[in-house]
Amino acid sequence: MSTNYLVIGSGIAGLTFAVKIAEKFPDRRVIVITKANEDESNTKYAQGGVAIVLDDKDSFKKHVKDTLIAGDGLCDEAVVKMVVREGPKRLEELLLWGANFDTDASGDFNLGKEGGHSEYRIVHHKDITGYEIERALLKKVHELKNVTLWSHHFAIDLITKHHIIDSQAKDNTCYGAYVFDQKKGTIFTIKADSTLLAAGGIGRVYGHTTNPVIATGDGIAMAYRAKARITDMEFIQFHPTALYDARGDQSSFLISEAVRGMGAYLRNKIGYRFMLGYDERAELASRDIVSQSIDSELKKTGDTHVFLDCTHLDIEEFKKHFPNIYKKCKQSHIDVATDWIPVVPASHYLCGGIDVDMDGKTSINNLFACGECTRTGLHGANRLASNSLLEALVYAHNIFKYHSEHTYETLELEIPEWNDEGTTVPREHVIIQYNLKQLQALMRDYVGIVRSNSRLTKAIKHLDLMSAEVEEFYKQAKVSTSLCELRNMINVAHLIINQSIARKENKGGFYKLDNIKENETEA
Ligand code: FAD
Ligand code: SIN
Repeated sequence: MSTNYLVIGSGIAGLTFAVKIAEKFPDRRVIVITKANEDESNTKYAQGGVAIVLDDKDSFKKHVKDTLIAGDGLCDEAVVKMVVREGPKRLEELLLWGANFDTDASGDFNLGKEGGHSEYRIVHHKDITGYEIERALLKKVHELKNVTLWSHHFAIDLITKHHIIDSQAKDNTCYGAYVFDQKKGTIFTIKADSTLLAAGGIGRVYGHTTNPVIATGDGIAMAYRAKARITDMEFIQFHPTALYDARGDQSSFLISEAVRGMGAYLRNKIGYRFMLGYDERAELASRDIVSQSIDSELKKTGDTHVFLDCTHLDIEEFKKHFPNIYKKCKQSHIDVATDWIPVVPASHYLCGGIDVDMDGKTSINNLFACGECTRTGLHGANRLASNSLLEALVYAHNIFKYHSEHTYETLELEIPEWNDEGTTVPREHVIIQYNLKQLQALMRDYVGIVRSNSRLTKAIKHLDLMSAEVEEFYKQAKVSTSLCELRNMINVAHLIINQSIARKENKGGFYKLDNIKENETEA
């Protein structure tokens, strides 16, 4: 099967590009594949909103400054300026496509504030902003006749030169992907003039995460196997306030940063507002600082969690702004008006990923990437809250613009079918489950908020053993989603650990004990 554009992923990044390119070129074909239900994505769960300069008191300069401060010296300033300036235009488009955002009585956007932001600039739809954006984008995609959206279709691998025995095949070029139809159990080839990876984040590599189960780093792993450049993987962002659940490793419900934006306090078990001792911005310090402070507090006290105190807030306002959080807390027998909410940091976002330039081009020809699977230079060592949806919107537009100005030749290459000769349906699924649990425990215990070379080196040794066992299993087994995801997560874990070992300086969300010791010795 062939298409002009193959889009892998149906979150904000993939859908925005699909809508734009399909609208502009009704004679060109766009195929979007996604491995779960069409709306399942990190996007769907985004709460706080999209950071956009709209208020008279605000300015692009202030948003740029806040982003640079959060990124701790590692942002690409030109990228930051470009993304921030594009924000209002991209919001206009979302509105045109039917997305709704909260407004006040005079019709102005009701702007929220989050950690690290010096002004009110978070455009939101209650506490379910991502759900609303995803809804609007899917509706728009379904209206476009030249877009085909296939849910439950899993991209296994990108097609590059080493799959093709053809003298025409060029070095380092992507020709599409091998795709697993999860319902039929068959694998087929989609040949594409241009392929966009928009496959999202990696949260599930850590069992304890705010991300849904789809976040297994498939896009990054596929790009890595195809030899794309991948950087900044050590910068995992841990969100400070995931709802504490005594059951441990699993998806955790997020208590939005916007709740602290409304004035909630963080307290330890004895009620002390400990953030005052860590940063002058207290609860509204950037995310890396709040998570590291909670981690340090928990290590000091030996407790499993801290608390978010909203009892002094106007509860009617709270219910209006955060109906979903209020409901979820109620279901967990927490009355926000009288009880403190137990919270703990959880893996939330990957600042690094597949290296792209401002046009979303990867280091592989005809392969573009957008959204959480990328490293654009916007986030540096730590992403400023609500800059991720913005980044996806802006880059989807840039990639669209690039494709509007450049055409791709359709190469008549012979692409061989997926070869699974000699493989059998595995009888022992326990190997996948066991290794997944081991991987998540390894990442939690050895590659968490505070790292050390000694733990990272041990982690690599364990990971190598796991990797060898899973690769052997993969060679013999018929493809399944859980096996491919495990293999991808192992690839991603390798990247995170190796790049953590290589980083010699603590920055933003990255903290390694050895780096402090080295700096102390030098001083
Ligand atoms: P996703 O939305 O994750 O979409 C990835 C898509 O790829 C999915 O459709 C998935 O099924 C598909 N996919 C993955 N692998 C494959 C494969 N092998 N084959 C086929 N399809 C595949 N950011 C903000 O800016 N503001 C917020 O308020 C905010 N709140 C958040 C709250 C939560 C709980 C979480 C988890 C994240 C939040 N973020 C927020 C981050 C933000 O939501 C994400 O970074 C962003 O939505 C990522 O969009 P994306 O399109 O890149 O990826
Ligand atoms: C949140 O609502 O706290 C999440 C915001 C983000 O991840 O940017």
